[in-house]
Amino acid sequence: MKEIVRIGIIGGGLMGREVASALSRWFVLENYPVRAELTAVCDLVEAQREWFRQIPTVKLLTADHRELLASPEVDVVYVAVPHHLHEALYLDVLKAGKDLLAEKPFGIDLAAARAIAEAARVSGRFVRCSSEFPFLPGAQRAYQFARAGKLGTLLEVRSGFHHSSDLDPAKPANWKRQVKTCGKIGVMGDLGMHAVHVPFRLGWKPKRVYAQLQKIYPERPDGKGGTAICDTWDNALLHTEVEIAGAEVPVRFETKRLAPGETNTWFLEILGTDGGVRYSTKEPKTLWTFQRGKEQLWQRTDLGFHGPFPTITGGIFEPGFPDCFLQMWAAFLAERAGQLGDRFGCVTPQEAVQSHELFEAALQSHAEKRAIDVH
Ligand SMILES: NC(=O)c1ccc[n+]([C@@H]2O[C@H](COP(=O)([O-])OP(=O)(O)OC[C@H]3O[C@@H](n4cnc5c(N)ncnc54)[C@H](O)[C@@H]3O)[C@@H](O)[C@H]2O)c1
Repeated sequence: MKEIVRIGIIGGGLMGREVASALSRWFVLENYPVRAELTAVCDLVEAQREWFRQIPTVKLLTADHRELLASPEVDVVYVAVPHHLHEALYLDVLKAGKDLLAEKPFGIDLAAARAIAEAARVSGRFVRCSSEFPFLPGAQRAYQFARAGKLGTLLEVRSGFHHSSDLDPAKPANWKRQVKTCGKIGVMGDLGMHAVHVPFRLGWKPKRVYAQLQKIYPERPDGKGGTAICDTWDNALLHTEVEIAGAEVPVRFETKRLAPGETNTWFLEILGTDGGVRYSTKEPKTLWTFQRGKEQLWQRTDLGFHGPFPTITGGIFEPGFPDCFLQMWAAFLAERAGQLGDRFGCVTPQEAVQSHELFEAALQSHAEKRAIDVH
C-alpha cells in the first residue's frame, strides 16, 4: 500500500482549482512513490468553496485557514492567495507543522521572502515554490541541452513569460494590477519566477541588472461602474549580466502582461558559438536546436509526451498546462519523499529569495536609470 499524502488548499481561485484538477488524476502517474489526495479547502468566498464539493476526497471546506491548518487530515498545504497575504499565511502553515507548496512570488517583497525562507529553515518543514513550465518536455530538453555543455562560448540567454491578458483597457482591474495586493514589483512578482527558475537552476545568477519597467494603463474600470487606479508595473525587461565560465554573458528576463497576441507564452532561448536551443509554449511540442558544423543548422524536433515522471499518456501526444502542473506536483512530492533522484526540482526558498533580490535591484535600476549590482 502506497503512503497517502493529504493535501489542503488555501485559496480556491484560479490556481486552487488547477491543483484540484492535478490531484484528481494522480493515477496517471506510473510507478510513482506516493498517492496524493485533496482533503481540505479554505476560501473566504462560499461560491469558491462550494465548487470543491464535487471532489469526493474533500472532507473539510472552511472559510478559516486556521481550521484547515488544525486538521490532522492535512499533511501538505498549497497556498494560492493574493501576494500581500503570502507572508502571514505561509508562516501560519509552518507554525502549524505542515509542509508547504507556496505560490510565487513567495511574499510580496524581498523582506517577506526572507522572513518566509528563514521560518522555513527554522521549522525544518519541506517548502518549495510554484513554477510549472520548466516541467514541460521541451523546457526539460532545453535545460539538459544547456547542462550538457555543447554550446561553446555562451553568447546570450533570453528567458521570459508573455501575457496579453491586460491588453484590453476595458478589462476591469483586479488585485494583480495594484501595489497594495500585488506588490511594488508588479509583473515581476506575477510572472518573474517562471522566467528565472531554469537559469537560476543552471547556476546563472545575475551580478548586475538594468531594468526597463512600464505602466501602460494607469487606471481601468473597477467592475462596479467606476474606475480603479492600476499602479503596478505591467511589463518588465531585465537586462542582466551573469558570469558563466569566466565571461560576462547578457541574460535577459522578460515578463509582460501586455504582449500583443500572447495568451500564456513561456520561452527560453540559449545561444552559444557552437550550439543553441530554443523552446516556447507557443509551439508546445517543438524543440529547436542549433549546431554549427560545416553549415549552420537550426533543427526542429517533435517531442511528444515525455515529462520527468512517466504517465499512462501515449508518448506521441502533446503536453499542455495541466500536464506540466501535474509534473510539478509530482516533483514536489517526490522530493518531499526523498525520491527526486537527479530529476529537476521545484523552486527552493533560497532561489525564491534570490529572485526577489533581482526584482528589488530592478526597481532601483529603473528609478535611478542605471545598472545596479544584485545582492
Ligand atoms: N503558477 C501559476 O502559473 C500561477 C498562475 C496564476 C496565479 N498564480 C499565483 O497564485 C496565487 C493566487 O492567484 P490566483 O490567480 O489563483 O488568484 P485568484 O484571485 O483567482 O484566487 C485567490 C483566491 O484566494 C481567496 N482568498 C483570499 N484571501 C483568502 C484568505 N485569507 N483565506 C482563504 N482564501 C482567501 C480568494 O477568495 C480567491 O478565491 C498568486 O500568488 C498568483 O501569483 C500562479
